[in-house]
Amino acid sequence: MQSNDAPPFGHWDLGFDSDFGFRISDFIRLTESPALDRSPERSYRTRDNLNHLENTMSEPLSKAALDTIFLEARTYPGWLPKPVDDDLLRRVYDLAKFGPTSANTMPMRVVFVKSQAAKERLKPTLMPGNVDKTMAAPVCAIVAFDMLFHEFIPKLWFDPSFAQLFTKPGMEEFTKAHAFRNGSLQGAYLIIAARALGLDCGPMSGFDNAKVDAEFFPDGRWKSNFLINMGYGDPSKLKPRNERLTFDEACKIV
Ligand SMILES: Cc1cc2nc3c(=O)[nH]c(=O)nc-3n(C[C@H](O)[C@H](O)[C@H](O)COP(=O)(O)O)c2cc1C
Repeated sequence: MQSNDAPPFGHWDLGFDSDFGFRISDFIRLTESPALDRSPERSYRTRDNLNHLENTMSEPLSKAALDTIFLEARTYPGWLPKPVDDDLLRRVYDLAKFGPTSANTMPMRVVFVKSQAAKERLKPTLMPGNVDKTMAAPVCAIVAFDMLFHEFIPKLWFDPSFAQLFTKPGMEEFTKAHAFRNGSLQGAYLIIAARALGLDCGPMSGFDNAKVDAEFFPDGRWKSNFLINMGYGDPSKLKPRNERLTFDEACKIV
């Protein structure tokens, strides 16, 4: 939890983003601006709202919960004919939105494709192997990112002037990478949130991004990233789970 005296950006963020070439001094100047509101009212607003959860934060989840979001969760290629309420989709987003993003910029945008008419618009953009499962799924979420996510910085970050970092000439690639990286993270949070609330997911990148963008985001502001079929998976359609890399194959502790 961030203390009121801590710099608003963690150390890792400076190192990571600086790969894109902006000057750290610009960044520090922005975060030290007098406009920066670190008042207790603002800093702790979210925490106060979540006080009832705080005692649970350091406890491991139950085996049943771990099964639901990881151990028994699968990528479903087939779906039971059971609809998904709009209200549940709202609850999924309202959980996923608490996953962290760099400077809390939250660039992910989502279109939940649910109606038959909207699915017909999505259908021609899909790779052939993804058509049947997507048409059968109660919902297909288009996980996108907002190229102008920085317009929301005055609402989302301590210092409204931080938005300038993303609008300066020459920062276009940095800004797009920021949106893609953090929008992808939020897409992963969306999968975990959906599973936590009892839905199954089937993420997909086998589709034509340009066609989806032309069909659903013609003004060019939102860009598609990947798709997630959502609903109640049909276990009879599952193949055995593939192996995962072990810790020693995928990780180092240095
Ligand atoms: C970003 C992403 C893109 C994927 N694209 C496709 C796809 O286009 N078609 C497909 O059938 N599965 C796709 N998958 C599903 C993966 O193959 C699947 O999640 C993975 O093999 C793990 O399966 P499991 O969860 O059942 O263990 C995709 C998964 C992810 C996360």
